[in-house]
Amino acid sequence: MRRFHGWEPLRVEGEIPAGLVGTLVRTGPGLLERFGRRLAHSFEADGALQAVRLAGDGTASGAVRLVESPGYREEQAAGRPLYGSATSRWRRISNGLAGRTKTTGNTNVMQWQGGLLALMEGGRPVEIDPRSLDTGEVSDLGGVLGAAFSAHPHAVGDTTFNFGQQWGRRAGLRIYALPRRGAARELGHVTMPWNTMMHDFGVTGRHAAFLVCPAKLRLGKALLGSADFLGMFAWDPDSHAELLVVDLDAIDRPIRVELPARWVFHVANAFCRDEHLTIDWVEYPDFSTFAALSANQPDTEVAPPRVRRVTVDLRRRALHGEQTLWDEVCDFPVLPPARVGREYSTSWYSTGGSRLSGGIARLHVGSGAVDRWTLGPGHHVSEPVFVPRPEAKRDDEGWLLAMVHDGEAVESYVAVLDADRPSAGPLAQIWMGQALPVTFHGTFIADA
Ligand SMILES: [Fe+2]
Repeated sequence: MRRFHGWEPLRVEGEIPAGLVGTLVRTGPGLLERFGRRLAHSFEADGALQAVRLAGDGTASGAVRLVESPGYREEQAAGRPLYGSATSRWRRISNGLAGRTKTTGNTNVMQWQGGLLALMEGGRPVEIDPRSLDTGEVSDLGGVLGAAFSAHPHAVGDTTFNFGQQWGRRAGLRIYALPRRGAARELGHVTMPWNTMMHDFGVTGRHAAFLVCPAKLRLGKALLGSADFLGMFAWDPDSHAELLVVDLDAIDRPIRVELPARWVFHVANAFCRDEHLTIDWVEYPDFSTFAALSANQPDTEVAPPRVRRVTVDLRRRALHGEQTLWDEVCDFPVLPPARVGREYSTSWYSTGGSRLSGGIARLHVGSGAVDRWTLGPGHHVSEPVFVPRPEAKRDDEGWLLAMVHDGEAVESYVAVLDADRPSAGPLAQIWMGQALPVTFHGTFIADA
């Protein structure tokens, strides 16, 4: 593993734009082994936060901190792994039967009411101090949360929506609303046709949409603590996917639309027009992308994804149509925050190659115009985080911050791009002083 450290000055090449002031915080799998035992899948790993603070005077400092969750601290005290594939079979079984999990914060970080939470979809969030990046306690958001809180919350206006999966004999989802002020609350519960992995969803503020894909959880294996995380899911290509469209005022009566089998990690957006709900997502023909993230099958050939649009007629409660929006190998869709849950035209994606490592592209939905920044082989580019320009005229005007692993320099850097024109290349490169592991998602904490 790389060197963990608190805030240190970083080397800057180019010029950090004036107005870009605040802290980028990203997270990803940090420890791929525990006490000398390798984990079966990167999704199990304790999270590592990678952060860069932009002071506003052209300088930057960086920190790389492990998410030291209560489960991690418990393992450190015990001197042995207690969770996941690295622990003993008996411990895995007792964990499964007792519902004990380690919440790792390895997938995303979200801001809410001045605080920072590190997220993973199979557990509750972990509190992170937004200044020091110290790890606090696991949060149940004031007693509201069930066992899980997904890693893809979406803020629509003043409310952040999210869901938590419930695996068991009755597969389901709990939907949550977190207002800018006041207490979090559960909006209701949706029944799913089978237990699966639900990574992301679309939400407009009035409706939420969930795609249930035929990666079916083998519940017995999950309960008995199978060491093979990948083997806990059975891909069933002869089955179908089921799109659940939920009216947030009538959650118990979702529209259910059957679609051919497919796999979706990330939803780009959802919006409503004339009683039609449109959902855009990045769609894979099968589940090979999940296998490729496993330690056991890292060389799996990933079937190429593309951006698809599905529209549901809310009055007829039926599929209206579906189309390919962008036939490009891409994932990690990003939107201007003001457009989440609304009609939109600008979006950004990580692009290129089976490992999505090739670059960043701006897609103008509608015209189909693409502007892309492409890197050479040996480079890996993270999902871009969009930062709106203060006092911008358009809501898609600003910068993109992406963590790039430069295979030639054997060092990682944050690329600062003009969100209008990624093809112009980095306005600034902020070098991290070491090669850092992959991160999935992140957020930008603008200085007040
Ligand atoms: Fe994700």
